[in-house]
Amino acid sequence: MCGQCKSLVEDQAQFCPHCGSAIVAASVNAHSAPPQRLGEGSQVDLGWGRVAVTSRLGEGGMGVVHKGWLYYNPEGERATEPPHPVAIKALHPMLRGRDRARRLFLSEATLLSRLSHPNIVHFFGLAEGDQLAIVMELVDGSALNEVIARHVQRAVPGGLPAMPFARAWHYFSQLLGALAAIHALGIIHRDVKPANVLVRRDGVVKLTDFGIARVPAEEAKNTGGMAPGTGAYMSPEQVLGRDIDARSDLYSAAIVLYEMLVGVTPFDRPERNEVMVRTAQVQETAKPISQLIPQAPRILDALMAQALAKDRANRYESAIAMGEAFRKALDLPESAGWSAQQEFAAHAQVISMAVPQQGSGVPTTDPGLPAQVAPPSAPAVPAPPAPAPAQPHSPVRPEPHRPRVTTRTQPIERFDAGRLRTAMMTAYKKP
Ligand SMILES: Nc1ncnc2c1ncn2[C@@H]1O[C@H](COP(=O)(O)OP(=O)(O)O)[C@@H](O)[C@H]1O
Ligand SMILES: [Mg+2]
Repeated sequence: MCGQCKSLVEDQAQFCPHCGSAIVAASVNAHSAPPQRLGEGSQVDLGWGRVAVTSRLGEGGMGVVHKGWLYYNPEGERATEPPHPVAIKALHPMLRGRDRARRLFLSEATLLSRLSHPNIVHFFGLAEGDQLAIVMELVDGSALNEVIARHVQRAVPGGLPAMPFARAWHYFSQLLGALAAIHALGIIHRDVKPANVLVRRDGVVKLTDFGIARVPAEEAKNTGGMAPGTGAYMSPEQVLGRDIDARSDLYSAAIVLYEMLVGVTPFDRPERNEVMVRTAQVQETAKPISQLIPQAPRILDALMAQALAKDRANRYESAIAMGEAFRKALDLPESAGWSAQQEFAAHAQVISMAVPQQGSGVPTTDPGLPAQVAPPSAPAVPAPPAPAPAQPHSPVRPEPHRPRVTTRTQPIERFDAGRLRTAMMTAYKKP
């Protein structure tokens, strides 16, 4: 049975044909000790620090995510840094015996450790002990699917079915920025969907879940059977198991934009199962947005048609090109946030290439980039538990497994209701 949607699936299935989630075996090994679950009250040792785990944040096909507090080892390099909130994603306990799941999880940690972008969750470390766990930035907010659902619930007859365009653009432009940066490094996310796009309370977007992300050279190692991913957001070439490039992520991002505006994805219907949705991705054409939102400008249909072209040769060639096409056609202002995205994309290689080669003369700072600013203020989380005892720390091991990631944060403009309302009026003015 699928742990996510409760559908019955074949014994050997790795992914649910209905919702696309990874299938969790009922028991990995009947004779092994029951897997120890990471949960409230447990601790994760990183050597150079330890995480006291608190409440549960969410769950996907691969992992269970909890909140926690990271305490730096008092004997370590970062002893003077105060504890701070983090998120901990542990490999699902029932997947621990699975080599492939373990490999994907380690690959997620490796990719994340290379990335440094304000719209990608920041990686702190990997615990490789009894339980694999990625320690990352806590995003205090909701996943985009929850944000969309709230907009749909609040919709009134005659009004917009989901988000106003300006807000959707605010999130979309940040998602495009994150994609531009990973694409510059040759990384394809492959699972761009609202559940993997976290929205902080102040409107800052953070792309997460690099669980099935790949660099193209690894693409060929894909397993047989149904391609992993969620049908409603998958590009036709991904559905067909063909080789994919950055344009596949851009197709998925366009579906996310469509859903933000319309409240539903173009090919998913309640009566369709996963196979039918995937088939529709390849065969059907998305209904133009102006047929669903009378206020929407016709140009949006043309933009969306290009973004969702079945043949990737007819799509936008890059995340920035796609964003610029939407921005210009919809007469949106060239905001500081969007300009910063273009700059980040242009410098992504310099920033991230510096990480694995640290100490080899590669500069970790670039005078052409904005100065580092303070990290975002601490999110509202429950008071931290009593600090972990100092004594159990092993000899000083400052960040032994992963290279230190240089954090660069660029303040992305806050949600400016007044200005965005004006932009929305422009975008939605009657043709
Ligand atoms: N850094 C984070 N901060 C806050 N919530 C998170 C964070 N990472 C994940 N989550 C929550 O946990 C859910 C599952 O995380 P995800 O990385 O997508 O796992 P999976 O690979 O199992 O799909 C997300 O949809 C989100 O609700
Ligand atoms: Mg996920």
